[in-house]
Amino acid sequence: MGNYTEEINRRRTFAIISHPDAGKTTLTEKFLLYGGAINLAGSVKGKATARHAVSDWMEIEKERGISVTSSVLQFEYDGYCINILDTPGHQDFSEDTYRTLMAADSAVMVIDAGKGVEAQTRKLFKVCVMRNIPIFTFINKMDRDANDTFELLDDIEKELGIATCPVNWPIGSGKGFKGVYDREKKCVIAYSNTEKGTREGTATEIPVNDEDSLRELIGAEAADRLLEEIELLDGASAEFNLEMVRAGKLTPVCFGSALTNFGVEIFLKHFLNMTTAPLPRRADIGIIEPAENDFSAFVFKIQANMNKAHRDRVAFMRICSGKFDADMEVRHVQGGRVMRLSQPQQIMADERKLLNEAYAGDIIGVFDPGIFSIGDTLCMPKEKFMYEGIPTFAPEHFARVRQVDTMKRKQFVKGIEQIAQEGAIQIFQEFNTGLEEIIVGVVGVLQFDVLKYRLENEYNVEIRLEKLPYEHIRWIENKEEVDIEKLNGTSDMKKVKDMKGNPLLLFVNSWSIGMTLDRNKGLVLAEFGRN
Ligand code: G4P
Repeated sequence: MGNYTEEINRRRTFAIISHPDAGKTTLTEKFLLYGGAINLAGSVKGKATARHAVSDWMEIEKERGISVTSSVLQFEYDGYCINILDTPGHQDFSEDTYRTLMAADSAVMVIDAGKGVEAQTRKLFKVCVMRNIPIFTFINKMDRDANDTFELLDDIEKELGIATCPVNWPIGSGKGFKGVYDREKKCVIAYSNTEKGTREGTATEIPVNDEDSLRELIGAEAADRLLEEIELLDGASAEFNLEMVRAGKLTPVCFGSALTNFGVEIFLKHFLNMTTAPLPRRADIGIIEPAENDFSAFVFKIQANMNKAHRDRVAFMRICSGKFDADMEVRHVQGGRVMRLSQPQQIMADERKLLNEAYAGDIIGVFDPGIFSIGDTLCMPKEKFMYEGIPTFAPEHFARVRQVDTMKRKQFVKGIEQIAQEGAIQIFQEFNTGLEEIIVGVVGVLQFDVLKYRLENEYNVEIRLEKLPYEHIRWIENKEEVDIEKLNGTSDMKKVKDMKGNPLLLFVNSWSIGMTLDRNKGLVLAEFGRN
């Protein structure tokens, strides 16, 4: 085993989570500017692409030969090698969005200062909490009218159940935005708009106890208010505690404006300082340390049709330990074979770059001839262990699928099973019947269109989808102890099973879940499925 500690320790791999429009793309663009990443225009997924209506989306896929799903951006900054995992939002919100978080070591949460915590942030946040990864908050758009600062923090604490620790404190917002107070340096940094610059402007900085200069800089009224707020804040907010941050129990909060490039570099610096190098991961043989073990990785995403011309499928894997060399042999544990990975590449949005080496923390995409599944482990030939599986996330939209031409049964089953194996959809059956009645569950509704489109185009099967009213799915954790036949639920509840035969319950609303739990003492329901 070589010594790759230095390379591994300088890696930082994180995902950005936010509700659409909070400013994730803008913030990512600014990060890339600091890193001097090449070809900026092509690197960040065009916002226009993400916003296209469903029908256009198919066109885009056809034209560009790619799918509008998450990608990875790598850049260097201040000695760090940074991997940003993009979590697709908008209509392309899917299970992949959740899975991407399984590959990250920390998350940056972007919140719109005028809106506070929004639905999608809440969902993604749950996954971060499940993994106990550190979360860093950037409250964006301070150059627009914002909610009250204390209320914004309260919102995060109450809605998400995580303590907050402001790193800086905003002075006004919108037209009255004067800058931020840096709590560590105890100075005020005046607001400057450097939207077009590649670096933050050399902002005016004055110590907060120099009251005359402070009044001159931000005005008497703002100065008085700031001093009052600082006093309140120092008394009320959680103490900074790095251990709590790393355990995902306390989130450092920065205020700024991604668009005008204010507060972004400071945030990035703080973030890099506080977050961790690639974390150890749990496997069936114990904990695997990134720098102390040979190469290992797990598949967290499979994407079909990355390139229409080649009908290919790419498996994305997160390297968890050691170093990867393009020509090395690896063991695909679940597949039970030793092999060379084909065309290892780094995927930068719609660009691909063949790579020769990569380290723990990095994400690589490899050509997949249809052998990989989500959660599979790859390691050195002499070893044989498996990383913990990736949970199955709860779909929120359900539809019954019917074939138009019943003669094409075989293609239909093959197609739908393959698409499910890639993890784009989940398939269920009525509890007491066979495969003739298939129910499809998806995390984002766009996946329904993708399914229809792909079955038609790749498998030559036409289907009809009949939307079902269910919004919640629950796995039965203690299925051995429960007699599913006798389970006494609400009238609108539906019993189904997944492809492995596991029983599940579908509910129209959360009230029915509570009612069912009340009526069946001892029943344990789970929001995530364990593989
Ligand atoms: P997303 O990836 O989270 O969906 O958000 P994105 O960065 O695309 O930002 C959404 C909109 O908010 C964009 O405006 C963007 O310019 C704007 N925005 C982002 N950060 C800030 C900020 O700090 N201040 C202000 N005032 N606006 C911000 P748009 O008009 O919807 O898009 P565009 O067509 O102008 O690019």
